[in-house]
Amino acid sequence: METTRAVVFTNIIIAVSSLFIVGSVSGGGSLFFNFYGNSCPAVEFVVRNAVTSSSSSDPSIPGKLLRLLFHDCFVEGCDASLMLRGNNTELNDPANRSIGGLSVIDLAKRDLEMLCPETVSCADIIALAARDAVTITGGPMIPIPTGRRDGVVSVVSNVRPNIVDTSFTMDQMINLFSTKGLSLIDLLVLSGAHTIGAAHCSSIRSRFQETSNGKFTLIDKTLDSNYANDLIQQCPTGVSPSVTVNNDPETSLVFDNQYYRNLMNNKGLFPSDSALLIDGRTRKLVEDLANDQQLFFESWGQSFLKLTSIGVKTGDEAQIRRFCGATN
Ligand code: HEM
Repeated sequence: METTRAVVFTNIIIAVSSLFIVGSVSGGGSLFFNFYGNSCPAVEFVVRNAVTSSSSSDPSIPGKLLRLLFHDCFVEGCDASLMLRGNNTELNDPANRSIGGLSVIDLAKRDLEMLCPETVSCADIIALAARDAVTITGGPMIPIPTGRRDGVVSVVSNVRPNIVDTSFTMDQMINLFSTKGLSLIDLLVLSGAHTIGAAHCSSIRSRFQETSNGKFTLIDKTLDSNYANDLIQQCPTGVSPSVTVNNDPETSLVFDNQYYRNLMNNKGLFPSDSALLIDGRTRKLVEDLANDQQLFFESWGQSFLKLTSIGVKTGDEAQIRRFCGATN
């Protein structure tokens, strides 16, 4: 616990000392707090409004927005490349087939174009919306700097090498995160996003084996057997591809530290979740986060700032799109 607190404390010092200008993680330009203070002061209000109104009619929206950010930032940096439509763009990769929340970003963008045309980037809207998704589900409110610009490159073949798969080993996850400037602690803390949202049955099939009578049995013994049976019931043979299970079987609509308590109880949904408890490098930290929600929230704030700063584009290297789905 002391080690974890020391790490969090160091992170806070770093964050405070860079309160006004925040360099991006993994290359790119700088971001500023209150970047739109003069040019579009209502930006945070408009985004919050779009997230709140969409989520009140569809509670699955916050999870979708948070995953949208993750998958956007990890490929070309946080530049809304994931939103570009076309035959060969990132959205066409199977890992992005179930990405949702795009309509919420489009809604905020439409309102912002009316208020302050060609001023606010889709990349900033994605970051703010993910931040708000966490807050409205009970997580911490994290002030984030803005000033990201939108990328012009979105290529399907760039997705696979940059997105984590549920079958990844700890070393593979650590390596990929480190290429984004994210540490082992960031990996553990950001995985806490799985405290909200859902997964399609196809995403957990690797933990089960289909027997000759068409039933599933557990092949992955790291999973609690009662939990495994619940999952099999929810995802029987021949289930519709649209069926989902909650990432967090206990409090799926609440952003809390239940994810880590689930891990402690061998109820990590994906093998990549269970790996965090099994691995000696993270086991103790899982325990600390399971026992201390405040510690999770403080750590989340620091890691989220790093996630939203990956490879940001500023200046002339990118643009402010008029529509998030297409370059200008
Ligand atoms: C570290 C390894 C990770 C792996 C292997 C992983 C994998 C997955 C998979 C397979 C799904 C289910 C997709 C579906 O079936 O529709 C999912 C859902 C989700 N992931 Fe992750 N993820 C990881 C980390 C993260 C991170 C870092 C974040 C955000 C900071 C995140 C946020 C989410 C959210 C919120 C959902 C629920 C989406 C929804 O409700 O539509 N994940 N993840």
